[in-house]
Amino acid sequence: GASTAPTTETSASPAPEQTDKQITLGFSQVGAESGWRTANTQSIQDSAKEAGIELKFSDAQQKQENQIKAIRTFIQQKVDVIAFSPVVESGWDTVLKEAKDAGIPVILTDRAVDSSDTSLYETFIGSDFVEEGRRAGTWLVEQYKDASEDINIVELQGTTGSAPANDRMAGFAEVIASNPKLKIIASQTGDFTRAKGKEVMQAFLKAHEDIDVLYAHNDDMALGAIQAIEAAGLKPGVDIKIISVDGVKDGFIAASEGKINFIVECNPLLGPQLMQAVKDVVEGKEIPKRIVTEEGVFTSEDAKRELPNRKY
Ligand code: AHR
Repeated sequence: GASTAPTTETSASPAPEQTDKQITLGFSQVGAESGWRTANTQSIQDSAKEAGIELKFSDAQQKQENQIKAIRTFIQQKVDVIAFSPVVESGWDTVLKEAKDAGIPVILTDRAVDSSDTSLYETFIGSDFVEEGRRAGTWLVEQYKDASEDINIVELQGTTGSAPANDRMAGFAEVIASNPKLKIIASQTGDFTRAKGKEVMQAFLKAHEDIDVLYAHNDDMALGAIQAIEAAGLKPGVDIKIISVDGVKDGFIAASEGKINFIVECNPLLGPQLMQAVKDVVEGKEIPKRIVTEEGVFTSEDAKRELPNRKY
């Protein structure tokens, strides 16, 4: 039965210590290159507000030097935590060491760094980009499992040297290697933007008459490429099959119209997890070194069904 513990009178708890002091977070964003990035920025700004965290937000316009400058400014301003989404993977050790020496914890969001000294940051919150590339490749392998002729693939890479470009390339290549008929005939960066995606696709179409598949590392580049494909008198999704990554609203619209055949989701709504991690770090709690985002995949049919629910 239930045991009745003797009740003891407790005196009113002492006034809380200064633990609920205002937390200031310095955040260096990659830029505003894509619909994904816009949704990511919104998520970070909204959740900082909700969590009562003061956010110093800086946009690096896709330039590493701007991010390094922003991080140094945050160090001078003595913010409580620095978070950033590194535009490229390499070249961070010096500035991360400066933050460490200043006693300011750093959290990576969305993109990874290749620093071998993992004590330079508390955690990395974001997607598994290699897995995203594998998911794109797995769909393609299944689509063409009975192909008797070569399948010519062109690839629009993300920003050169960025974790999502490196990893989405690697995961995709790993999986399609199982079928030697699947051939990447051209692969070039479109910098994750619509304008560049369109421009590079135009060049691909000029150089190659027989493109079967486009693999774009994000929706925006796929959307730019769709304009180039249509301008060339071809039907996107039919004459050229299209796979992309992200799953932003405009990508979903194109998919529901059959212009994109398959979308691998990359979730931009990292704000709530980031603010939780910031609070935990300030309170000295142990947090996991890696926090992976949950995400799915969508065919044109799925996109049609999901479109009304898409928030970004
Ligand atoms: O790092 C995430 C990637 O960056 C997104 O997939 C892309 O759209 C964005 O620019």
